[in-house]
Parts: sequence; C-alpha cells; structure tokens
Amino acid sequence: MVPWWVRPRDGSFSVTIHPPGDKSISHRGALLGAIAHGTTVVHGYLVADDTLRTLAALRTLGVACELRGTELQIHGAGPEALQQPPQTIDVGNSGTTIRLLAGLLAARPFASTLTGDASILRRPMARVIAPLRCMGAYIETAPDERAPLQIRGGPLRAISYPSPIASAQVKSALLLAGLQTVGRTEIVEPSPSRDHTERLLRVFGASVETGARMVLHGPARLEAAELIIPGDFSSAAFFLCVAAARPSSRCIVEQVGLNPLRIGALKVLSEMGATVEILDVDDRSPEPRGTISITGRPLQGITISADRIPSLLDELPALCIAFALAEGESIVRGAAELRVKESDRIALLVRNLRACGIAAEELPDGFVVQGGSVRGGAIETGGDHRIAMAFAALALSSKEGILLDDRSCIASSYPGFEEALRTL
Ligand code: S3P
Repeated sequence: MVPWWVRPRDGSFSVTIHPPGDKSISHRGALLGAIAHGTTVVHGYLVADDTLRTLAALRTLGVACELRGTELQIHGAGPEALQQPPQTIDVGNSGTTIRLLAGLLAARPFASTLTGDASILRRPMARVIAPLRCMGAYIETAPDERAPLQIRGGPLRAISYPSPIASAQVKSALLLAGLQTVGRTEIVEPSPSRDHTERLLRVFGASVETGARMVLHGPARLEAAELIIPGDFSSAAFFLCVAAARPSSRCIVEQVGLNPLRIGALKVLSEMGATVEILDVDDRSPEPRGTISITGRPLQGITISADRIPSLLDELPALCIAFALAEGESIVRGAAELRVKESDRIALLVRNLRACGIAAEELPDGFVVQGGSVRGGAIETGGDHRIAMAFAALALSSKEGILLDDRSCIASSYPGFEEALRTL
C-alpha cells in the first residue's frame, strides 16, 4: 500500500491528454493474435499490470511475444499451437484476462489452472463457467463458483446462449470458445455490451454476425493482423469529469477511442451542463478514435437509468466527480454490476464521498449523491484502480485535499496517471 496525498488546485486549467492504449482492446489484440496464424503487430498496446498479465499468460502457454515500448509483436500459429502451461496462470487483478482465458482454454486439449489476487478470488465466475459448461467444458472452481479455475480442456459443442447479463467478458469468452468449436455459436444479450471482440474478429478474418444476436460459425481460422489501439476512454474520463465541473476549464483528449458503446459518459456530462465536442473522428480502422474537447460549466445533477448503464459502467467512479461538484441530486439506478467489479464500487464510492463531506446513499443497484462542496478527507481505495483515480482527480476540486490509502493499484490500467494529473 502506497499512500498518496493529493492537494487541491485553484483556478481554471487547459490541458491536452493522451491516454494510454485501451485496456479492453489491448487484451483482445493479444489473445486473438496468439491464436491467429502469423505475426500480429499491435501499435499502442497498453503497458499496465492487467494487460501485462495477459502477455505473461500467453507466454506461459508457449506463445512468443515481444513488447518494445507500446508496440507488441505476437507470433501465433493457431490455437493448436498453445501448449499446456507448466504452472498456474496468475492473472493478478485482471477480470478480463481470467474470463477470456477461461473461454479460450476450455477448448484446448490440456489442463490449466487460472488464479488471481484477492479481488479476483472474490469476483463471480459463474457467468462464464455456466455457459462454458453448457458447451461441454470441464471446469472445477473454488466454492461458490469462484477462482481458482481448474480447466480440463477438450472439444466443445456449439450452443445458443441467452445471456442473463450484458457482459462483454461473457460474450468474448464464448466467442473464443466458439472459434474453436464446430458449428454455430450464438449469444443473445439483454442489451449490447462493448463490441471490441466482434470488431477485432473481423480484422483477423473471421466472420461474425452482430446486432441483437452474435453468431459465429466455427471452427474459424484467424490470420495475423496489424492493429492500432486507440487511447482508453475510461482512463480519459477522470480528466474529462474534473474539467467538466470546473467553469472555464478545458480538457482536450487526443487519439481516444470513440466506440459508441463506450462513451455514454459524454452525453451525461453534456446533459449535466458541460460543453462537449467531438472535434474529429477517424473511423477507418475497426475502432473509431478521435479528439474530444470538454469545457467546464456549472453542472446540474442528473438521473441515470438502467438502459444507459452498459455504455458508462466503468466511468461511474469518474462521473462521481461531476455528481459531487454539481448542484442538486444525482441518482444512478440499474448498476448492480458495480458491486462485483474490482471492488464493491457502490459501497466504496458512497463511503468515500461521505468521507469527503458529500452526502451520498447506497441503493441496492446504484447510489444517490447530493452535490455540493467537497471538503476532502481520507479515503479507502479497496485496491481498485478506478476508485483511486476518481478520488485523486476529485482532490483537485476539494477544499483540503484527499489522502488515498494506496496508489499502487492505479498501475492496473494507467501507470502514467499521476504524471498526467500533475499537468492539470
Ligand atoms: C470489459 C468488460 C466490462 C468492463 C470491464 C472490461 C472487457 O465488463 O466493465 O472493465 O474488457 O470485456 P462486463 O463483462 O461486465 O461487460
């Protein structure tokens, strides 16, 4: 645990941020590159704890990968070339790594064990294990379907799966299993989750039908590709939210991912009163990216209902900055998934907002925040990178500053965060 005291900062600011590579797309680029044929080159790979865990896992499976700066070369020879791992694969804090690997490895003809840190051992795995078992996978778990996962891989059968939750990790695990399985794998989601896997599969040469139903005909052969990873909107969100709540401040974020299923927070900030502009969009590559400009104004509270949640779930910690500094009440509903992220984010956000002098209340599936003036105080990150970054950024607009109990967890997704925050 490395404590961090973040002081307030007066006056308006104008900054340009270049967030690091998108975490979700980086994981997928590496995993798909590892089972494609040939050398995949990934530009702008996220060099952070979570995505390095994915590379370490792939190396344990016998895949050669070289990372130079943020350029990754990964030498794949099809899923058949993956080798039985000589040791347990430790995914650290990375939920995407463990869930996607479970899908990938369930179809390989060898045994593997996946584990992670204390947060991973608490997070639900039944969401991926249940459908994989329907496909015929043999997976043993700790009690209550938690990790470690012991997988005895083998041939699977294709299924049609109506997923009870909108989860890109579940969908992607099934697509990775379906890629190696004869027949038609179909996944139906209650509402669309991020579609990075589907977009990348097309770049790797697989045909996947998207929309309300995802359909993949397996087995599908992937060919190596060259990918450019856009900046991570979720990492940029902390800066966008601080700027939005500070009148006359401006934040420009360049080369950032603008996937429509990820940027619901922009509309929220605009409805709260900030001036949000998308200055340019480049949608030549499979993932759109461009420049966002946000200018701060006095913000008003907002109510966010369930239908908007999948497009902004990871940004809710950052949005709490705007809720805390807005006038009036903000209400979030339909976000029970927040309770099973890297921490119970509903409980921690509410507890920490209160510790900083903001009235807030938990709901079973969300929370209520009474905006006002942020005094500051000592907060608990719970080892959750997004909680840490949200309160470090909020500290700039507090009266007395905020003391975080730990900043080391930020390395999961954004090792350069502290330096970027200093530019404000
Ligand atoms: C992710 C999907 C999301 C998100 C997580 C990353 C991914 O979770 O919250 O941080 O890379 O697939 P869901 O599986 O709930 O969609």
